[in-house]
Amino acid sequence: MMTLERPLTKNIKPNTPPMGLHAYQAAGGYEAVRQTLGRVAPADLVEMVIQSGLGGRGGGGFSAGRKWQLMPDPKADPGPRYLVINADEMEPGTFKDRLLLEGDPHQMIEGIILSAYAIQADISYIFVRGEYGTAITRLESAIGAARDAGLLGRNILGSSYDLEIHVHGGAGRYICGEETALLNSLEGRRAVPRAKPPFPQISGLWGRPTVVNNVETICNIPHIVLRGVDWYKSLGLDGESGTKIYGVSGRVKSPGTFELPMGTTLNDLIEHAGGMREGYQLRAVLPGGASTAFLLDDQLDIPLSFAGVAKAGSRLGTGTAIILDDRTCPVGMLHNLQHFFAQESCGWCAPCRDGLPWVERILAKIESGQGEMSDLALLDDIAGTLGPGRTFCALAPGAMASLVSGLTYFRAEFEQHIHTKSCGWT
Ligand SMILES: Cc1cc2nc3c(=O)[nH]c(=O)nc-3n(C[C@H](O)[C@H](O)[C@H](O)COP(=O)(O)O)c2cc1C
Ligand code: SF4
Repeated sequence: MMTLERPLTKNIKPNTPPMGLHAYQAAGGYEAVRQTLGRVAPADLVEMVIQSGLGGRGGGGFSAGRKWQLMPDPKADPGPRYLVINADEMEPGTFKDRLLLEGDPHQMIEGIILSAYAIQADISYIFVRGEYGTAITRLESAIGAARDAGLLGRNILGSSYDLEIHVHGGAGRYICGEETALLNSLEGRRAVPRAKPPFPQISGLWGRPTVVNNVETICNIPHIVLRGVDWYKSLGLDGESGTKIYGVSGRVKSPGTFELPMGTTLNDLIEHAGGMREGYQLRAVLPGGASTAFLLDDQLDIPLSFAGVAKAGSRLGTGTAIILDDRTCPVGMLHNLQHFFAQESCGWCAPCRDGLPWVERILAKIESGQGEMSDLALLDDIAGTLGPGRTFCALAPGAMASLVSGLTYFRAEFEQHIHTKSCGWT
């Protein structure tokens, strides 16, 4: 069998502290920085990332290089410019960025140095989910070591490039993962999304040009620089580039994270997780976190690429699959997810602020056997009102993705709860 390349996780060993600076350098770390700063023009690095086909791993898949290209020319707009790393990771079922932050903080730092150089930013913030205390401690310690070694600060490695990295612990709100709410939070304001346009590249942190990228996106950069565009493209399947840190949770034998070629099928991913536990059958899957639509057990051969999952009617999202098995009540599962979303609505726009708690109340009513058939029509109606383009940001439409597909695929279970006035699954 062909050995899979796992550039992002090659230095990560389970239950072992991350590599320190010397071990990381001995394994080839920071070589990409040495080869780039002062030697490669920032615009050429941006072009390389465009050519690599790297799509943002925060959920949308937008070309990282094209996003960088939208930054204004620093000569035309001199002054501070920022690179912000989105490490908020509060999507239910998602734990891939945590692996990278805790497992290989120097890889994160090296990715930041290269990416900040490409967009000519001299300050970078890593916005880390507040509960990720270990990640925060390890990042701060690695940043200190990198600074002592001349890899951060002024004139990095004798080049004329300066960069400081600051770690910022979030206060634990899901909306802080939305990039403009994150920027408000970093500025010390209430974490609510901003209207777009202007996009952060034009007016971001403190009104200055800013790129916001996901942790996994940026961790790819040193490998693209060191091993080249063709190699990076060759790692992926289904026409998309690189590897992906997928995840699986639910009743599989070995839930966890798995770095596999981008475009691996859902079937293969579940096999890497050991398959279903004894006595459980897979019924449906949320392929990319709680904000994605269900796929059914006859769709397991679809490639987990951005285009592949979209073609099948869902979204790759974070690539971390949540499995619904045949012994778990789908109504209960959806109620649980909607409880989260209702709690996490930031309250900025009325349809989401009032609609999500309303959805949650109806689901609680149905689950407890108090539901009526008219509640299903009401749920369909509210879900339409909270769909894409109806609310200020994508939180509410994301919340509706699992609900709408669940109402379609598990209609019989909803009706059974209503007719029998109970949840027969408990
Ligand atoms: C409600 C909500 C929560 C989000 N949470 C995250 C998150 O935790 N991490 C993340 O990288 N992107 C998150 N995003 C997407 C970001 O807004 C943004 O698109 C992403 O950080 C861009 O990075 P990328 O281009 O590298 O994918 C979220 C979006 C929404 C609407
Ligand atoms: S959709 Fe929800 S989370 Fe987004 S701005 Fe409106 S209230 Fe806030």
